Amino acid sequence: MSKPKVIVTRRWPDAVENYMKEIFDVQLNIDDVPMNIEQLQEAFRTADAVCPTVSDKISADVMDVDNMRAKIIGNFGVGFNHIDLDAAKAKGLVVTNTPEVLTDCTADLAMTLLLMTARRTGEGERHVRNKEWTGWRPTHMMGTKVTGKKLGLIGFGRIAQAMAHKAHFGFGMKIYFYDPYPPSEEVINRFGATQCDSVEEVLGLVDFVSLHCPGGGSNTNLMNAERLGMMKESAILVNTARGDVVDEPALVEALKSGVIKGAGLDVFANEPQVTEDLLTMDNVVLLPHLGSATTETRNAMGMRVVENLKAFFSGEPPKDRVV
Ligand code: DGY
Repeated sequence: MSKPKVIVTRRWPDAVENYMKEIFDVQLNIDDVPMNIEQLQEAFRTADAVCPTVSDKISADVMDVDNMRAKIIGNFGVGFNHIDLDAAKAKGLVVTNTPEVLTDCTADLAMTLLLMTARRTGEGERHVRNKEWTGWRPTHMMGTKVTGKKLGLIGFGRIAQAMAHKAHFGFGMKIYFYDPYPPSEEVINRFGATQCDSVEEVLGLVDFVSLHCPGGGSNTNLMNAERLGMMKESAILVNTARGDVVDEPALVEALKSGVIKGAGLDVFANEPQVTEDLLTMDNVVLLPHLGSATTETRNAMGMRVVENLKAFFSGEPPKDRVV
């Protein structure tokens, strides 16, 4: 039997690419140049499986091809707001993602951003590297204490729960959350977490707000000027979810005018573009979408895609089917 033809849109870790070469007729993207619409359309026309990642826009147009050969989209990433799921469904495509394997690393990075922003470590590092440091003094670069403070989580899925674990057991933080689909009492009690009835309620209560909801739909611009204004003046916003969840111009305004104290951002509305004003502000920490970027996790994400494809092509239901 011939091997399924699989097209991968970007470079994947070597171990995963090598494994794919053994089991599939795979077309890799060794140069790692993003594919354009025509190239993506060609992939849907000519491969059994297309494997995009979170920076590829898989719109209805991309899937609108005659004589489509593709039967499955094996996405490298847990988020799928870059894929038009309705269009995929209409075309009879199965869509899978890569949950679980990136939970801890993404939560670690959210905690990193929280600590970096609170303790001004990006600013401090620039200070040392620029040879501006004149020595220790009692009032130099005072930040915000983290231990024992209140952490508000918007969305309380796997990644938020992993952050709650680190924040509560590691830093003695008190956990507040809002999620329209809350987890079991057992999970809530594990962290002694307080369940709030709305996003707004969380915002007013906590010292740190960390976003863990999906992007797109009604979550676009969830953190708008009005909601930013509900946060404490001393509070810090952390976003490792999706850039569009925060209204970036409103955030710039809130940071400039002291409505909130700081922000730690790993994701942006128009990646890789970052709102110019943010680049000049010392009360923000900016990272290039690094949430899952560890060798262990990226290998595991790739292998998870492979497992989903293997199941699909052997007639089994793929574990991580979203459509
Ligand atoms: C995802 O998987 O959705 C992240 O944003 C990238 O790891």
